Amino acid sequence: MYKILIYDSFEATRASVVSALEDRCELTCIANEIEFQAEIRSRQFDLIFIDIDSINDQSVVLLSQIHTKDPFLPIIITSKSEKAEIIVQAMNAGASDFLIHPISPTRINIAVDKALEIRDQRFEIAYHRRTQDVVYDFRDVVAYSSSMQKILKSLERFAKTDSTILITGDTGTGKSFLSGTVHFNSPRRKKPFVKINCANIPEDLLESELFGHEKGSFTGADKQRIGRFEQASGGTIFLDEIGEMNMRLQTKLLRVLEEKSFERVGGNKTIFSDVRIIAATNKDLVQQVETGLFREDLYYRINVLPVTLPSLRERRECILPLADLLLKKCCASMHRDIHGFTDEARKLILEYEWPGNIRQLANTIERAVILEDDRKIHTYNLALPKKTLRQQVAAARPAVAGEEPGVPEPAESLAEREKELVLRVLEECLWVQKNAAKKLGISPRALNYKVSKMGITHPHWRRNKKVG
Ligand SMILES: Nc1ncnc2c1ncn2[C@@H]1O[C@H](COP(=O)(O)OP(=O)(O)O)[C@@H](O)[C@H]1O
Ligand SMILES: [Mg+2]
Repeated sequence: MYKILIYDSFEATRASVVSALEDRCELTCIANEIEFQAEIRSRQFDLIFIDIDSINDQSVVLLSQIHTKDPFLPIIITSKSEKAEIIVQAMNAGASDFLIHPISPTRINIAVDKALEIRDQRFEIAYHRRTQDVVYDFRDVVAYSSSMQKILKSLERFAKTDSTILITGDTGTGKSFLSGTVHFNSPRRKKPFVKINCANIPEDLLESELFGHEKGSFTGADKQRIGRFEQASGGTIFLDEIGEMNMRLQTKLLRVLEEKSFERVGGNKTIFSDVRIIAATNKDLVQQVETGLFREDLYYRINVLPVTLPSLRERRECILPLADLLLKKCCASMHRDIHGFTDEARKLILEYEWPGNIRQLANTIERAVILEDDRKIHTYNLALPKKTLRQQVAAARPAVAGEEPGVPEPAESLAEREKELVLRVLEECLWVQKNAAKKLGISPRALNYKVSKMGITHPHWRRNKKVG
């Protein structure tokens, strides 16, 4: 039940608010300012009614005081006066609504519902903004290699402008992540940051997703829909996988870039939306232009501030700091008490190729955290291939002076030794995984994972049987 405070010195007008709300809200009625001040100091309300005729000229001051202290608390003003000046003053001081006596019960209920709905939306926005602010902070960006430091410097500068940014780079190199960092460090940070992946949406729905549609514009369009470009108004839109857009949409996008305007699907009203565009792709757009798949004029229009993110192996200095950061984040979210990696694990992480870049590193670490029973992450829980492709190639070539050494041998023998140990203990425990896990000092779940990864099977085990 909502808790509502009603401040009105006049019995008759107070009664109208009380009778409209008493069935659905917990009401507290106050007739003078001292009691009112005491109530709002000591208790939390969902909404308050203030009758402006009950207070003196100080009413607006009182209103702004409450509003400054608790900006989310909705305040509905009631009054006998219809003076525009008073209404404007009250609304400017933070009132959610202004009702003039006599007020019908329906009107009161509608005002309460509307004010509470707006309050809930504001809570939600504040929540999302807080979570995004934490995630997208330039200080959270790991950049130890000189290439990344340069990129970061440019992005910080780009963030201050409204120009279109084109971020290219392989999957998992941080395109989405850095686009958020740009938005939340730009003058548009208080406005929406809207992300859309053009590859995830069927081609025929993408246009309506981006630009919205009018009711009845196609089968299934039973309501008007506001597109992402309108939602992002004043803010930033992140167009991921822009190379997937078809020619028709490319033409429409070009117009948005040039004129900041478009029409909803099936509509002829021109809509203006001031949106900053950050586009990303892992495709070679120049090649797509050459093969006629991407409009050349659009390419030049989005390629104003180009940024190419290096693969993880091209920023070797970042690998271990990233691993440490990702481990810390992962442990915090899973409530695990793991501190760092063993020396072998660090070596392996540093030597590995990481074809899936930072995303692969993050997934690898997440899995290791689940499997690890010790206080440090061990090599065998990283579950990386023994040798990377590059190292296999390097091994087949005669060594060149000054080249990095190959993968450390211990990783290989360690995995083998581990398998031997698991097999021996399983035999000792007559292939009962639960008992073997206990003897090995790991959880049954961890053993089950290892067993299937090592390809160990036994006729006593039913296929896909899970232990745990
Ligand atoms: N420089 C960086 N510092 C810290 N974390 C990063 C960095 N770049 C990427 N990440 C993290 O790596 C993961 C993959 O990044 P993402 O932006 O989704 O890649 P992409 O969009 O290029 O496929 C995300 O979890 C992101 O938070
Ligand atoms: Mg992405």
